[in-house]
Amino acid sequence: MPDLLSPLTIGRHTLPTRVIMAPLTRCRAGPGNAPTALNAEYYAQRADPNTGCSLIIAEATTISQQAAGYPDTPGLFTDAQVAGWRLVTDAVHARGGVIFAQLWHVGSISHPDFQPGGGLPVSASEVNPGGEARTPDGARKPRVAPRALDRAEIPAIIDDYARAAANALRAGFDGVELHGANGYLPHQFLSDASNRRTDEYGGSVQNRARFLLQAADACIAAVGPDRCGVRLSPNTGSPAIIDSDPLGTFSYVTRELAERRVAYLHIMETVPTWPSVQPPIPVRAFRPLFDGPLITNAGFTFEKATEYLRRGDCDAIAFGRALLANPDLTARFRRLALGDRDVPMNEPDPSTFYTQGPAGYTDYPTLRA
Ligand SMILES: Cc1cc2nc3c(=O)[nH]c(=O)nc-3n(C[C@H](O)[C@H](O)[C@H](O)COP(=O)(O)O)c2cc1C
Repeated sequence: MPDLLSPLTIGRHTLPTRVIMAPLTRCRAGPGNAPTALNAEYYAQRADPNTGCSLIIAEATTISQQAAGYPDTPGLFTDAQVAGWRLVTDAVHARGGVIFAQLWHVGSISHPDFQPGGGLPVSASEVNPGGEARTPDGARKPRVAPRALDRAEIPAIIDDYARAAANALRAGFDGVELHGANGYLPHQFLSDASNRRTDEYGGSVQNRARFLLQAADACIAAVGPDRCGVRLSPNTGSPAIIDSDPLGTFSYVTRELAERRVAYLHIMETVPTWPSVQPPIPVRAFRPLFDGPLITNAGFTFEKATEYLRRGDCDAIAFGRALLANPDLTARFRRLALGDRDVPMNEPDPSTFYTQGPAGYTDYPTLRA
């Protein structure tokens, strides 16, 4: 059976390991939500497949101004953003790395302070997701009930996905990941708690999945199925986004994506910071439904990853916080694989996850540093 340090083909790439970087929002984009040289340095530190990871799924990246909901997050809808991302992709490729862009529309998770003209955020239905938004000036404000999208507005958002996917290639990315997880817009359409529509985008699972699959089809048309992955989170537990039949809903979406022969499916097994209120569905429940590369994530160690790969539950593991804090994670895994039980691991510091500058970003030491 494969192990973490064995090769895997994803789309056009033969990756030397199955250690993948999970998408991590870091709120450190520059003016105009364009990536900077500092962002390029951060990704380059993790890009060498022999020491860092074999595929970087870059942080969630907005497809339009309407899509934004967090301060200083990057976009892929202006030329300046494309140019900023080019700094990142060039730096990653110079280290022999592979990098996909994660395409993002937060829907109701936004706040009027982000919206063009200060309007309401948009969603499938007028369901307030609750909690607080951090607005562009850094203030915390309660989220609001969004405006339900008119059916006639939806094609323009699907076009935004297509344009952002095309921009990703212009910016030098090797592919895109549609962010269908974590309670953002495609997920808001998918779940029956957040979608109360009565048109062809609501009601049956086929209708609720329509937005996500149209967004996937737009990305596939722009970049090809072999350069388009999709991330899903069947086990998210917020009451505003819960589905009454997650196994049925996500099995349908998985089968549809299998038919489209997407580059990979990325299924989060749990969301550690967002406890599931339903019994979590293990990733292996979806294995028989998807014959392409299946990535899983959330809370994995070297040992747990090895166990999953040996059992055949999935094909690769995405590491989030472990790679955030250990730019040379694969180098450390290599020592663990050789039986060294004494490999030190840097602990991630949550207080610098979303701050500015190099602290807690580009200053995590490697083993030899
Ligand atoms: C700082 C931080 C930022 C995150 N940003 C994103 C994101 O942009 N897109 C996404 O899909 N998930 C995001 N997540 C979730 C991670 O991709 C991952 O699912 C989570 O950290 C669990 O994996 P881990 O236990 O390996 O860290 C983020 C998590 C953290 C801690």
